[in-house]
Amino acid sequence: MVAMEGGKNAMTFKSLFYDFVVSRYYDDEVAEATADSRSRCVELLSIESGDIVLDLGFGSGLNQPFVAEAVGAEGRIIGLDASSAMLGLAEERAREKGYADRLRLIEGDARKMSELISESPDKVMTTLFFSVVSDWQSVFSASYRLLNAGGRYLVMDTFWQKPSLAERFLIMRYTAKAAVPGFKPLEANCEDYYFENFPPDIEHGFYIAVGRKPFRS
Ligand SMILES: C[S@@+](CC[C@H](N)C(=O)[O-])C[C@H]1O[C@@H](n2cnc3c(N)ncnc32)[C@H](O)[C@@H]1O
Repeated sequence: MVAMEGGKNAMTFKSLFYDFVVSRYYDDEVAEATADSRSRCVELLSIESGDIVLDLGFGSGLNQPFVAEAVGAEGRIIGLDASSAMLGLAEERAREKGYADRLRLIEGDARKMSELISESPDKVMTTLFFSVVSDWQSVFSASYRLLNAGGRYLVMDTFWQKPSLAERFLIMRYTAKAAVPGFKPLEANCEDYYFENFPPDIEHGFYIAVGRKPFRS
């Protein structure tokens, strides 16, 4: 069984929009198109068996099949999201795939993270989330404080400096912003900072940034 917590005071305009609108088309539109990049994220995070991985803005749990395999039976995924409908999809996926016991789901506003999570993860990941959540910098700071020293932090997101019309439409559909530089705090704070863009021949689109929290900062 999936451990599900929270639910109180989680509701925001965005969580309602994801509950009643986006959750209806999210997996159909996003799952296949992002599968390769999700497996790349897990590779770049160097997840080890037994790790605790905090996945912020967990959504419908599209990362979890890759992460659950990497953490193994001894490891755990903590998934935080404000939308109960998106977490419902994640719970269903975990049950179907048989790794519900590795998953702790928390329904809540990531901007109130300190009230929701006290555990220190070995890895933090956030995918397609910093471009959506308001006040992403404070979400970064709170989650970076939680991360164990020596642990890795990964951000995968879109970055469109001059979005085309089609990209603008996509941005609207997901209540996102076009050019949130979610990689910058990793560049500024982490060791072994690594950044890649895909497709690699353009200067906008999707990126993955990853770095390690130093033992001394
Ligand atoms: C574009 S989806 C990304 C989902 C998932 N990370 C992925 O890669 O597919 C953005 C998610 O952010 C969640 N979200 C938006 N604002 C939030 C907040 N303040 N706190 C927690 N989750 C939030 C939405 O409910 C939604 O599930």
